[in-house]
Amino acid sequence: MATPHISADPGDFAPDVLMPGDPRRARHIAETVLDDARLVTQVRGILGFTGTVDGRPVSVLASGMGIPSISIYATELFRFYGVRRIIRIGTAGGMATHLNLGDVVIASSAHTDSATSANRIPGIHYSHAPSFALASAAARAAGLQPGVAPDGVHVGAVLSSDVFYADRPETTALLVKHGTLAVEMEAAGLYAVADAEGGEALAICTISDLLFREASLPADERELLFDRAVRLAVAAFATA
Ligand code: HPA
Repeated sequence: MATPHISADPGDFAPDVLMPGDPRRARHIAETVLDDARLVTQVRGILGFTGTVDGRPVSVLASGMGIPSISIYATELFRFYGVRRIIRIGTAGGMATHLNLGDVVIASSAHTDSATSANRIPGIHYSHAPSFALASAAARAAGLQPGVAPDGVHVGAVLSSDVFYADRPETTALLVKHGTLAVEMEAAGLYAVADAEGGEALAICTISDLLFREASLPADERELLFDRAVRLAVAAFATA
């Protein structure tokens, strides 16, 4: 069976899918986290692998960039491949000034400027939220408890923007004033598709740059910190 954007057979995907944006990161996750990983799709270079983690089947499929791209892959996985849960493992730009490079944000909600959401239910400002079970399991795996905030792990709202090269400091300031932690480009689309398709979703983002000061991570450090988000996601799948 093939869908327009995935060429795999029924049963090729596990019910649980890790979803980085970058296909090379999908390969890295398959090589370092999955046991017995096999390639199941590579349409448009969007690599998908299935293997096991501690004996549990887990797949990884890249999403590409932006809400339209992740919406296509998430819809086809939920609707045609029996997938039940997707956790996006992405990067995000830190908006709130208490964030640091390499911090992890568990996205407990996602604002968006995307027309895909404005038009989803006419007349309604749709609320983009993750699976509570996955989000709370990821928070527990990170060591978060009432009164305990582990170093560098945050739970809160992100902005899922359609525009990477946006120049709108007033909007950013208002979002930060309203508690928004970071900006990325996919979580809101993933959450809405999961709602529409009866699946579950979560986004766990690693802060790769900061909007309020010039800073970025060296590539090798980025990989290491990124692995922390992958570990949280795998633990969330196992314990949610
Ligand atoms: N903007 C949008 N998406 C991102 C960013 C950003 O600054 N950093 C990582 N993903």
